[in-house]
Amino acid sequence: MGDLLEQTHLTPGGPDPSGTPGIFKARNYNILDPETYTTLLKEDPSIDGIISFVGPTRLKQMMSRTCTLYTDTIQAILEGMKKSRSVEVLYHSSVGTEGAPYDAVVGWPKPYPFLAGLVPFFLPVFKNVTLSERLLARSDLNDLKFIVFRPATLTDAKAERHFGYSIDNSSDNQPTLPLKEAKTSIAREDVAEEILRVGTMPEAERAAFYGHALYLADLKSSKR
Ligand SMILES: NC(=O)c1ccc[n+]([C@@H]2O[C@H](COP(=O)([O-])OP(=O)(O)OC[C@H]3O[C@@H](n4cnc5c(N)ncnc54)[C@H](OP(=O)(O)O)[C@@H]3O)[C@@H](O)[C@H]2O)c1
Repeated sequence: MGDLLEQTHLTPGGPDPSGTPGIFKARNYNILDPETYTTLLKEDPSIDGIISFVGPTRLKQMMSRTCTLYTDTIQAILEGMKKSRSVEVLYHSSVGTEGAPYDAVVGWPKPYPFLAGLVPFFLPVFKNVTLSERLLARSDLNDLKFIVFRPATLTDAKAERHFGYSIDNSSDNQPTLPLKEAKTSIAREDVAEEILRVGTMPEAERAAFYGHALYLADLKSSKR
């Protein structure tokens, strides 16, 4: 992890580094085992949030009707917190789910071609993404605070820092992401920066997003 961080070159012009250096601890645990979260949350009171970026890495997994990686991960996090304590969850989900997480359904934003609707037929894992959001939102943990991020198609390009977001319904033509301006992609770096930005907002501001999903996509127009 240390090597990876050293080798990662961030695009200049991003968020200012925090004035307070953090402490980085890496552990090797099974992310699908509830005990992982129970142990870590009990052992380390400084942990105040969980971010999940999990996803299948092989096409075979994505095509499998039995791949339940997303729901298994969320289930493990929820069960682990039940036996220890609740912390805020930031969940990197995906385009392909529409609506508020509580009532999430499979669906693609309007700027995607009509045929994108066939994707879950070939890649059933997208249905599991949708189910995982519902699972998180319908948890019986009291006052669970969570925010879902649904990026458009991810690229390895440099951060453009020129994207919009819509809340819950990406086809609503929201002022923060007018449909005629929306592309169907966004750089991983932009998404990571946005999750970091939202995750470190003062809680009074961040609370406006609790229980919601933010769809993120690049804007077509040139930067103002
Ligand atoms: N690709 C897209 O266009 C796109 C668009 C929107 C959203 N998304 C979603 O965004 C997330 C990240 O996407 P990405 O393309 O950046 O994927 P990625 O680089 O392949 O990241 C997925 C990560 O999940 C880890 N993982 C999978 N199974 C695991 C397990 N059982 N235990 C521990 N770690 C496990 C993988 O670890 P290893 O590398 O060690 O296997 C990998 O680091 C995924 O949920 C994806 O579905 C993707």
